[in-house]
Amino acid sequence: MINDLWYKNAVVYCLSVGTYMDANGDGIGDFEGLTRRLDYLQGLGITTIWLMPFQPSPGRDNGYDVSDYYGVDPRYGTLGDFVEFTHGCQQRGMRVIIDLVVNHTSDQHPWFKAARSDPKSKYRDWYVWSKTEPKNATSGVVFPGVQKSTWTRDAAAKAWYFHRFYEFQPDLDTANPHVQAEILKIMGFWLELGVSGFRMDAVPFVISAKGARVPAKPPEQFDMLRRFREFLQWRRGDAIILGEANVLPEDDMKYFGGDGERLQMVFNFQANQNLFYALATADSRPLKKALNATKPRPATAQWGMFLRNHDELDLGRLTRPQRAAVFAAFGPDASMQLYGRGIRRRLMPMLGGDRRRLELATSLMMTLPGTPVIRYGDEIAMGDDLRLKERECARTPMQWSTEPQGGFTKSDRPVSPVISGGPYGFEHTNVADQRRDPDSFLNWLERIIRMRKEVPEIGWGDFQFIPTRTKEVLAIRYDWRRNSVLFVHNLGAEPREVTIEPGAEGEHDGILVNLLSGDHSEPDQKGRHRILMEAYGYRWFRIGGLDYLLRRSEV
Ligand code: NOJ
Ligand code: CA
Repeated sequence: MINDLWYKNAVVYCLSVGTYMDANGDGIGDFEGLTRRLDYLQGLGITTIWLMPFQPSPGRDNGYDVSDYYGVDPRYGTLGDFVEFTHGCQQRGMRVIIDLVVNHTSDQHPWFKAARSDPKSKYRDWYVWSKTEPKNATSGVVFPGVQKSTWTRDAAAKAWYFHRFYEFQPDLDTANPHVQAEILKIMGFWLELGVSGFRMDAVPFVISAKGARVPAKPPEQFDMLRRFREFLQWRRGDAIILGEANVLPEDDMKYFGGDGERLQMVFNFQANQNLFYALATADSRPLKKALNATKPRPATAQWGMFLRNHDELDLGRLTRPQRAAVFAAFGPDASMQLYGRGIRRRLMPMLGGDRRRLELATSLMMTLPGTPVIRYGDEIAMGDDLRLKERECARTPMQWSTEPQGGFTKSDRPVSPVISGGPYGFEHTNVADQRRDPDSFLNWLERIIRMRKEVPEIGWGDFQFIPTRTKEVLAIRYDWRRNSVLFVHNLGAEPREVTIEPGAEGEHDGILVNLLSGDHSEPDQKGRHRILMEAYGYRWFRIGGLDYLLRRSEV
């Protein structure tokens, strides 16, 4: 049954164990603490938890420097605690996907230690070496300003090793069949422990040819993705890979494969960047363009839609003037920008603390073609701490209550400072207060998630833009199984009246049923709707009469 593709109508929530909830009072979030919060997440309506890396790691890149792929970092608990956690999720009907970071290891990984100290080690060829410094060593750094080179000399190995990211993250030679076999083994291991798939880190770099002599644009080995996928589905039929690939739309499609034989999901970075551009300029056209460019995907494939993630808001794919416009609107100070291409703030401070804009952005994420991926803390509109370096500013502990340390830990030395004071401090911004307040953002989000799950047309259907003749107002319609829905968003700070012809089908009586309030819209004789959109307003409509639920059961 095609409905089995659970990721088509999922609501994903991303968190890192270390900053979520500390149960044993040592200041570091742990699996036990997270497990105690599963009822909270279920109540919010989350269907899938994406765990950021939690394996043993020196922790120099928030765990994206793994030193043992088959364990749990002791700071977070044990493998036993992990299994309790996945079991707890299963009991509540929630799935878990975990980060799979196999482009590189930590330089403290025993494989790398063996590789550098012993040229005869079988692990030597698991990494990428060069006797001399390659000519292109300073090009292609991912963290400009912080990372100087992609090749570093290792004294013990008497050779240079390749690292796409920081120098403590030596790249694995992913073309090596032994490395590929190990990647499969890692996936197989975690699948046995109850996960439903992986968020695959840095996919373009995983599949890129690596080495001192590769051309400036190295060939990609897409077939590797099909092999990962096949293995995954032999082991667990409903497991998926959600790829992190910030590439151009024409390349995006290759990550899905023409028949959807590669990754099931890929984050839509195009839509993300253009969404922020659209919000910054109140102009929906670039967003439409990005959505059209990423429209033709295989039927089984799905986009991951997100607002902010744990990295900087990467604007690298926008034009220079576009990027300047987003910087000016959302991150004007140098301290808010990062790597010359992005903004490192959290969502709510970027939006000027304006609840209307936060609802607008969130409503867009929920209704654009794909599956929403929410970042922990954004459900209560948490802020950032720009005193922390690089991307750490947006990775502070979850704010649960007005208790000391926001209820995150009983220790007075949390792993990262809890935001305190001011509008985003835990004293004002926390889960406990927002739960009690029916008008809080948390409760708004809970309601919107509930409705989002009742609109599978978004994840499954085909979309088209409906003209509004107003660049500020975006109208998008989905059709699936004789049901149609329409979403209208006003990106502008001024109210706008728009006239919309949603193109009701013959069987529909032309009413637009408002899914979020009692304010339905009747068409005029020509089938047109006049809709007054307040500043930053949004509407979720079902096209046709109130009998849509009956129609749904017919299919
Ligand atoms: C992408 C991750 O999102 C980022 O946080 C990390 O630093 C790099 N990959 C390296 O693993
Ligand atoms: Ca702890």
